[in-house]
Amino acid sequence: MTVNDAPPLLETRGLCKQYPGNTALDGVCFSARGGEIHAIVGANGAGKSTLMTILSGATRPSRGCVVLSGEARTFASPADALSAGIACVYQELSLVPQLDVARNVFLGREPRTGRGTVDIRRLYEQTAALLDRFGLNVAPDAMTEALSVADQQLIELARALSMEPRVLILDEPTAVLSMAEKQNLFRILRRLRDNGILVIYVSHFLGEVIEIADRVTVVRDGRLVGVHNARGMSVENLADHITGEAGLQATAPEPTVVSPDARRLDINVERGGDGTRLSINAGEILGIAGLGGSGRTAFARTLAGAGRRGARVRLSDGDFSASYTSVAKAIANGVVYLTEDRKSTGLFPALSVTENATASALGAFSALGLRRPGRERAAASELLEQLKVVAASPRMPITELSGGNQQKVLLARALMTRPRLLICDEPTRGVDIAAKGQIHRILRDLARQGVAIIVVSSENEELLSLTDRLLIMKNGRTAGEMRTADTDETQLLLAISGDQQKGIPT
Ligand SMILES: Nc1ncnc2c1ncn2[C@@H]1O[C@H](COP(=O)(O)OP(=O)(O)OP(=O)(O)O)[C@@H](O)[C@H]1O
Ligand SMILES: [Mg+2]
Repeated sequence: MTVNDAPPLLETRGLCKQYPGNTALDGVCFSARGGEIHAIVGANGAGKSTLMTILSGATRPSRGCVVLSGEARTFASPADALSAGIACVYQELSLVPQLDVARNVFLGREPRTGRGTVDIRRLYEQTAALLDRFGLNVAPDAMTEALSVADQQLIELARALSMEPRVLILDEPTAVLSMAEKQNLFRILRRLRDNGILVIYVSHFLGEVIEIADRVTVVRDGRLVGVHNARGMSVENLADHITGEAGLQATAPEPTVVSPDARRLDINVERGGDGTRLSINAGEILGIAGLGGSGRTAFARTLAGAGRRGARVRLSDGDFSASYTSVAKAIANGVVYLTEDRKSTGLFPALSVTENATASALGAFSALGLRRPGRERAAASELLEQLKVVAASPRMPITELSGGNQQKVLLARALMTRPRLLICDEPTRGVDIAAKGQIHRILRDLARQGVAIIVVSSENEELLSLTDRLLIMKNGRTAGEMRTADTDETQLLLAISGDQQKGIPT
């Protein structure tokens, strides 16, 4: 029997999920086999994560059921689904930052000694063996909060794999991974598949989906609208299935033009940033490129006033100068930072969509003694509309939005403050391709209005289509600079990974 006519390992029958005023899933009959990599694609808010959390026991369906190996199941909890062999790496990280890697991987399942205490030696040995087996290059005793988001994601993966699942669900696993980390992940996934495991893979990177998946299920507005063999599909083709319309996703990049007399903004990190200096023109989009762990985020955070304690950043252009040592002061001086890690440092989970969008602007408005809540709301809702945020109501808690829509709200917040310098770390992480095009357009428009923009991205394609100039980071330092127009994908890859220096060393 070939994989193609094998009976399904995992199915859903007539699956519905109703939230107040909002149907997240509407009669989904999904089916996947052991020994395949099965991708799930769809626009932000289509229902992908809802489907995954039902499969993995974290959410209860309103109607319908999950069928595993022909048997209808109701999972009461993720632990329940796990014991049936379904493990899930969620879109949002769920590690305990203050614990080390080994403690996180075996949290609640630590190996015990005869006396019932945690067997520390075996804990670290087992973790090391697990990390090694899957080629994950992280130390078992590394403190989780000190790791990059990419490494943290790999720890989540190690934790899921340590349970030896029959079904492994990954919700946007590559959103923060660099090229090399991605290839490593793909190698692991293919090996799991070849061992008969069902890998379910949710992603907005359609090129990757076509590369890694055997089959692709498309979800639109809570409904399953198609199942396709990945082989032979094109990105355009798949995008048309997602939107239900032809050719919508095509957005030709238009280069920004920095006028020669644009004002230059000098940024000096005076303390705690190893004397970093940087100049950027008003209206320029500067990209920060580098491998995972090269220090891109630390660099961006330092510039944004969130660097090591005591780091002072001085900004100056012709007739303006300011210095700051905190994010609040940075914002007051027109420097706004969009974080890559929306869960732990970005969102205010207790607040509504609108309140989250206006959270930074409040300071600016009230500093002028001019709080105009009505106007803020109107400005926010205009932006949220431009960004096509899908929310049942602007008053709903932000945690009830889909991941990509949460990201759009954070971006709206950054834009609401009308910054002089906007620093975005992975601005399109987790957003669908239509919204990505829209975010790129908005960033270019802002640049045209004279805002200086710094973009950190692990997606080289994004850097190449969006930026005017690229700064290369290696080992925590800036290691070169190049004009985007003079660079292609191969050269950029060489510059960030090769020993050979490309561009002008700074
Ligand atoms: N706890 C909740 N309460 C109310 N509505 C919710 C809740 N969780 C999700 N939703 C809604 O269900 C719909 C589907 O969301 P879901 O997170 O499944 O989308 P998604 O396809 O994963 O999107 P993304 O690509 O942005 O991650 C959205 O409209 C979302 O706002
Ligand atoms: Mg999601």
